[in-house]
Formats: sequence, structure tokens, C-alpha cells
Amino acid sequence: MLNLQKKKSAPQTKTCIRRIRNKLQNYNQEHVLRWWKQLDDIQRKELLQDIESIDFELMKKLVNKYLERKETPILFDSIKSPEIIKIPGTEHEILRQREARKIGEQCIRDGKAACFVVAGGQGTRLGFEGPKGAYPIGPISGNSIFQFHAEKILKAQQKYNVQLMWYIMTSKPLHKQTIKFFEDNKYFGMDKDQVRFFSQRMLPAIDKDGKFLMSSKHEISKSPDGHGGALFALRESGVIREMMKKGIEYISYFQVDNLIVKVLDPVFIGYHVKAGAQMSNKVTPKIAPSEKVGAVVIVDKKYSVIEYSDLPEEHMRDKDKDGSSKFNAGSIAIHILNTEFVKSLTEKGIKLPYHIAEKNIPYVNNSGEYIKPKNKNGIKFETFIFDALKFAKNVANIEVIRENEFSPIKNLTGVDSVESGRQLYMNRCARWLKEVGDNISFDKKGNAKIRIEISPLFANSSDDLQQKDLSSIDTTKDIYLV
Ligand code: UTP
Repeated sequence: MLNLQKKKSAPQTKTCIRRIRNKLQNYNQEHVLRWWKQLDDIQRKELLQDIESIDFELMKKLVNKYLERKETPILFDSIKSPEIIKIPGTEHEILRQREARKIGEQCIRDGKAACFVVAGGQGTRLGFEGPKGAYPIGPISGNSIFQFHAEKILKAQQKYNVQLMWYIMTSKPLHKQTIKFFEDNKYFGMDKDQVRFFSQRMLPAIDKDGKFLMSSKHEISKSPDGHGGALFALRESGVIREMMKKGIEYISYFQVDNLIVKVLDPVFIGYHVKAGAQMSNKVTPKIAPSEKVGAVVIVDKKYSVIEYSDLPEEHMRDKDKDGSSKFNAGSIAIHILNTEFVKSLTEKGIKLPYHIAEKNIPYVNNSGEYIKPKNKNGIKFETFIFDALKFAKNVANIEVIRENEFSPIKNLTGVDSVESGRQLYMNRCARWLKEVGDNISFDKKGNAKIRIEISPLFANSSDDLQQKDLSSIDTTKDIYLV
């Protein structure tokens, strides 16, 4: 019996390898099996599984897109600036915001809103081993970014007296580590059942000739398919179905590396609902036309985000007919998406466009040596969530104060870094304390002179601080409120 099985399985494996070899040849990727003879059985199995999981037709299109470099030209004259709900100034605007808050708060209390963080990125610029959310960011506590977000959610739960779901998108290399990090930290006080992890798709990275890069002799180098991959992942993982079953209508989307993001903002949800929108954006005026953030615009009556890398110097200062700047609505990657909208986009099989990113990607060269390149040697393909805007029937764009909501952590030092993110966080804490009457000093750059950390569980706004007895605070020393 045993013998028979052996005899049977051997030719099957051979057929299988022949089929895979043919497939690779058809797509010009046969080099992937270059070290086949040197591999052991487990490595061979892993490599075959890896190859089987690749969508070769998709990769062929992407490779051609890269090799032909046929980018659709941007028609700058047809671009218009978007309508924006400004930060309220007039009595009428203040009332309108109050009304939006009421609507949003009711949605949250009714369990119609959930938090969704995209945390599948590789964080190459930060260079931190492990998920970016695990980075110890707390200026005094050293608490992780995940803990800050978790505490914001817990605080909102207390306020609205409802259990909130938190959906976390990871990618394959980070998935287990992310879950373990939550387990090791006892889910930061959240119920295990209210945190749902799921993983996004990975795509092969290619070299400049369109060949798949190998990360080892039996592994194809793959990278996550961009934050736009969230749409596909929400569907594939069954999360969208689960959300609908739970009655969740609004998805509060944010990126893991924005430390001071409002994870669930009733005002934003309220404006979104009032506008009958399917997807909405938070925007802030750009600091300068050359600032490296995307800008929300209208192209052919559809909303879109034009990336800073696609905005040439000669168009940065373009104006609308009314004299306003076309590219001033900086997108800060915070959105509300309707669950129904995501469901219908993914059911219709609508695909977001792939963007090309040239990166330094470690690889195994033809001689089998592992190389860590100093220059950009490889290409990754990514989709971006904001490309879904053009499918949305209505979109609300809400202007917010940047220092209150946006502190992206991309690098270790300098612009958009751990350093600047911590400082922005401490400055916001300092402003809250000042608003409730504490005597906090700032230097010429507007930075708090002492280190201040307020756990979101203690207070997540200056309003929360109003309810606290802060009489014993010494504003000449570090302040840590927990
Ligand atoms: P970035 O585009 O800044 O990428 O992601 P990154 O991976 O964090 O950093 P670099 O570019 O490698 O240095 C913005 C947000 O989108 C998420 C990231 O986790 C981050 O929250 N993201 C990005 C994903 O979830 N998946 C991706 O494929 C890419």
C-alpha cells in the first residue's frame, strides 16, 4: 500500500513541477527555479506553494506597465480644487459643526461605526524590526503606538457606552508578530473579541528587467500591495460581511503611524452622514506648495488625490478661476468609508490602479549571494486607498487643524519622524493643559519646554481634562498623567 502511494505521488510531483516550469517559462520567470537542485524537500515545497499563490496574469500586466512606463498623462487644466467644509468661524458654521457632532455621536452610540487601522506596511524608512505599531513611542512611558490607539478606543467606549470593534490590517510577514504583541500586552485592556486581525495580499517585487527578485534561494521577494489592498483584504477575509452582520455602517480608516490621529471622530462621521457620502477625507491646507503630501482634487467631476510626486514644480502653484490654489487641500490619510461602498466596489471587482515604487530591495544575485543594495534596484507595486474616491457618489472633505490630528512617523529623525511625532504629541498635551489653565511654557519654535505625556485613557481632549483635578501638577518638571 505504502509503496503504491509512493509510486503514485512521484510522477504527480514531476507533472506538477513540469507544469510550474512551463508556466514560469511562459511568463519569463523561469530563473525562480535556478537553485532547485540545491533545495531540500521542505524548501522545494515552500517554493512551489509560493509560486502557486502568484497571480501571473496580474504580474504580467504590472511588469509590462513598468517596462513600457506608459503613465497616463495628467491634464492639469482640467483639475479643480475640491469643496471643503472649513474649520468653523461663523455662528452658522459653529452650529453646523455642533449638528454634525450630534449625528456622529448617535452613530457611535448605536454601534454603527468601527475603527480600522492599516498596519501592513514594511516601515522601511523607520528601520524598526517588527510592526511599526509596536514602536515604543511614548515620550515618558515608552508605550507603543498600538497602545496609544487602543487607549483612545477604550476612552471612546467609556464615553459612548458601547463596545467598539477595532479592525487591524497586517501583512504576512507582520501578522503573527502583531497578534503576539497584542497577546503579550493583554490587548491593552481591550476584549480579545473586539480586535480582529486580517492580512493583506503580497505581490512579487521585480528587478529593472521585470524579473521576480528572490529573497533567498527558495523564496520570491514579496511586498504588501499598498494600503489600497485594504479593499480586497476586507472582502477576502470576510471582514466586510462580519461588519454588516454587526450593523457597522461606517469605517473609520486611519494609518498606524499617525500617533495623534482621532481614531473615531464624531464630527467627521456626522459631516460624512449629512453629506450622504460614501467616502470622505480629512484635509489640511498645505504648509507650502512643495510640501510632500498628496492633494485632494476634482478631475472630470470625480474626486481624486494627486500625489506630490506627480505634481511637477511648474504646476504646484496653479490656481482655480476664482484665484484659489488648486492643490492646497493636503490629504492626511484619514477617511470614513461606508461598509456598503466597500462591499459594492469589491463585489463588482473594481480594481484600483497600481503605482510603481522604486526601492532598495535585498535580493539573491545570480551567483546565490545575498545582496543589500545601496541604490534602488527593485520595483514594488502598490494600490492606494484614496484611488477609491473616484468611485464614490458623494465625498465630504473636512478641514482640520493639522497640529491636532496629524503626526506621521516615517523616519527616526527629522521630518515626519519619531522625534517630530513625539514632539507634536507633547505639544498637543501642553496646549490642552494650557487651555484648562495650567501655566505651560513654550519655546520660540512653539515646543513645550518640558516633557508631557497624557495617557489617552486619562484624557483624550482638553474637554476631558476639564473634569480632572490638576491642582497638584508641577509645571516645572516632566508631566505624566495616567
Ligand atoms: P507608508 O506608505 O508610509 O509605508 O504607509 P510604510 O510601510 O509604513 O513605510 P515605508 O514607506 O516602508 O518607510 C502608510 C500607512 O499605510 C500602511 C502602513 O502600515 C502605514 O500605516 N500600509 C502601507 C499598509 O497597511 N500596507 C501597505 O502595503 C502599505
